[in-house]
Formats: sequence, C-alpha cells, structure tokens
Amino acid sequence: MLLHIPEVFTREEVARIRQALEQAEWADGKITAGYQSAKAKHNLQLPEGHALAKEIGTAIVERLWANPLFMSAALPAKVFPPLINCYRSGDSFGFHIDNAVRQPRGSAERVRTDLSTTVFFSDPDDYDGGELEIQDTYGVQQVKLPAGDLVLYPGTSLHKVRPITRGARYAAFFWTQSLVREDAQRTLLFEMDAAIQALNRDVPEHPSLVRLTGTYHNLLRRWVEV
Ligand code: NI
Repeated sequence: MLLHIPEVFTREEVARIRQALEQAEWADGKITAGYQSAKAKHNLQLPEGHALAKEIGTAIVERLWANPLFMSAALPAKVFPPLINCYRSGDSFGFHIDNAVRQPRGSAERVRTDLSTTVFFSDPDDYDGGELEIQDTYGVQQVKLPAGDLVLYPGTSLHKVRPITRGARYAAFFWTQSLVREDAQRTLLFEMDAAIQALNRDVPEHPSLVRLTGTYHNLLRRWVEV
C-alpha cells in the first residue's frame, strides 16, 4: 500500500524548517547507503546525530504518533530516527531496495525496515525532476507532494529519486518496523479500520459494530509481533 498523508506540518512550520536546512552544513549522502546503493546515490545528507536532524526527526515522530492515519496504516513498533536529505540540480538516487535491517548509531536496538516514509519540505514548484518513483503492486507511481505532506510505502519496494534539473529538494525519510510485518496484512487491517471508523460516525449504535471491532482486534492478534 502506498499512502499519502497531507499537512503533517503547516506552511509556517515548513518555512521555518526549510530556512534552517538552507543554512545547515551538509555531508555526502553515501554515509548511510549500503555497498550497492552507494553507487546509485548522489545527494547531500545531514550527518546522523546532527542537532538539526535530531530536532526535525523528533518533531516528525511526535507528529506521526498522534496521527490516526499513520498509526492505522503503519501500526508502528519502532522507528529508525529520521534522516534529512537535499538533492540539488544534477543529483539523483537510482533504483534500489533499502537494507532490511538498520541500527541507529549509538543504539543497541535494530529496526526492520517494513515501511519507508518520505516527508517533503520543498514544494513541487521549487524544483524540476526529483520525483520519488516507487514500483507498487499496480505499477510505477511517481510521487511529488506539497511541502509538509508525506508518503508511506512498503520497504520491500524498488524505488528511486529521479534526477533534479532545477532548484533544490529538501526531504526527511525514515523507516518503521511495524507490529505487522506483511504489507498485505497491514493493508487489510487499514481498510477494515477505516470502514469501522466510518460506521462509528454514521451508525454508532449499530450492534454489529462491537463484533466487527472485535474481529479487527482478533485479526491483529493473529498477525501482531511484539
Ligand atoms: Ni531508498
């Protein structure tokens, strides 16, 4: 499942974040790439543990933990702290699949990368090219969202960032280990949760809602790994 969540950050927040990013000291993006993907990765990144990356990363995680759509779709167990990148004219990241397991620097805990998230901090008008291209179950999707929006997609997907031909593209990305490993199972739960919520709005007194909600939890119980 590929999911677009709009307006995670307001226009004012995005403007403040982008201003800080424009003044930051950047490093080569290959620092967090695996052996294979380092060959395809041409961009800039804030070093892991950079104060600004930590600040933005914390804000993202706090925001998403309070976002019902993200919680329902990702069913998060833990995250790899967000990384921040910048693509300038000429930069790109060729087709690759992200490493399956990540260990944050200085942490003993490892994160299985079930889901990948990109948060856009530049508007589509700020740059040409730079689409995030994701090979989905139903074909290739090109994603280029307004600043403040995010896209969530399965970590198993082949993906790339198309070459930038004008301007700069600032974004954050991170991985989530889900309580439910399989994308197909997460998708079923997400659809069912959305339907239950709609029924709760429209026919809150219907007796079948209790059974349906119970079935959601019994499915989750079958599939969850804690
Ligand atoms: Ni990637």
